[in-house]
Amino acid sequence: MTAITYELIKKDEATGARAGILHTPHGSFPTPIFMPVGTQASVKGVSPDELKELGAGVILSNTYHLFLRPGMDLVREAGGLHRFMNWDGAILTDSGGFQVFSLGDLRKITEDGVTFRSHIDGSKKFLSPEVSMEVQMALGSDIVMAFDECVPYPADYEYAKTSTERTTRWAKRCKDAMTSESQGLFGIVQGGMYKDLREKSVADLVELDFPGYAVGGLSVGEPKELMYEMLGLTVHLLPEDKPRYLMGVGTPDYLLEGVMYGIDMFDCVFPTRVARNGMAMTHEGRLVMKNAAYTRDFSVLEEGCGCYACRNGYTRAYIRHLVRAEEIFGLRLLTLHNLYFLQAFMREMREAILADAFSDFRAKFLARYQK
Ligand code: GUN
Ligand code: ZN
Repeated sequence: MTAITYELIKKDEATGARAGILHTPHGSFPTPIFMPVGTQASVKGVSPDELKELGAGVILSNTYHLFLRPGMDLVREAGGLHRFMNWDGAILTDSGGFQVFSLGDLRKITEDGVTFRSHIDGSKKFLSPEVSMEVQMALGSDIVMAFDECVPYPADYEYAKTSTERTTRWAKRCKDAMTSESQGLFGIVQGGMYKDLREKSVADLVELDFPGYAVGGLSVGEPKELMYEMLGLTVHLLPEDKPRYLMGVGTPDYLLEGVMYGIDMFDCVFPTRVARNGMAMTHEGRLVMKNAAYTRDFSVLEEGCGCYACRNGYTRAYIRHLVRAEEIFGLRLLTLHNLYFLQAFMREMREAILADAFSDFRAKFLARYQK
């Protein structure tokens, strides 16, 4: 019995979109699902009660950040990440791989792991498959991600091959180092933008048999068509009875396509980050709240939205004012709205899949949505 199990409820035969349930030690939740990001053990500006209320069942946090500050010993002493941050829903932690590789020249990769300088105080640090597993076991997240290298874009074939093969060796080391039975370790598919490398990556990881698989190394600056091509060929090879997670994707158009390709889980800083830049997400596209058009707009962000802001009648004019006056409450209202919007959007897609109406839902959404 593994900590994480996936129950496939329905597959849309026309597209491959799936509705399911993911079972974790901290609750079960319907898929497809969007996971709000709480990088530093907090979804910026939102309390755990508010997350629950807007429908989030699982959030993402980051090994890299928590490893540097406050450190794994402190979180362990606090009783694990759930207790430390007062969140009793499920938590997925990313492995640190992606964050460490974003540091550019500040890091050095060897077979053993990655040496880097802390972005906080410049001190020298080391992350490896074993260290990442140790940290994620101290955090006690329900879903643990393997320590990988996200192949940058563009990357030449030799680089992508060397990197992907190392990521596979690292995945095996992660598996050996992960000794907690209450946590499920997901493998991460890499391979850059090369079909054969992606195929080999999937085959090797599936051979290792993880309770779930992530598609990594996408949405890293490649053209949209290339991303969909890589996504399609990757998902096609993944086992049907395991959850699939597309890392770092969270705009409605990409979520829609991801679900269509058979992805079950997503995360992205997008909804929370753009909220803090004064943007609201709607079924029609994004609203830039600073725009003069909203000066006397006394309607809510989106008609029919059940979020805290819309439900309580906060108007576009008021939120525009708050954003312009740099009032924290304005950014909070937008964050709550955007997170609610994505939870609702995922729910709508799931209902469409269950009703055999996903293609129709997709066509209607795309006709309305302005990028
Ligand atoms: N977040 C977005 N892409 C990736 C990836 O390829 N690997 C990891 N670990 N995290 C990601
Ligand atoms: Zn709303």
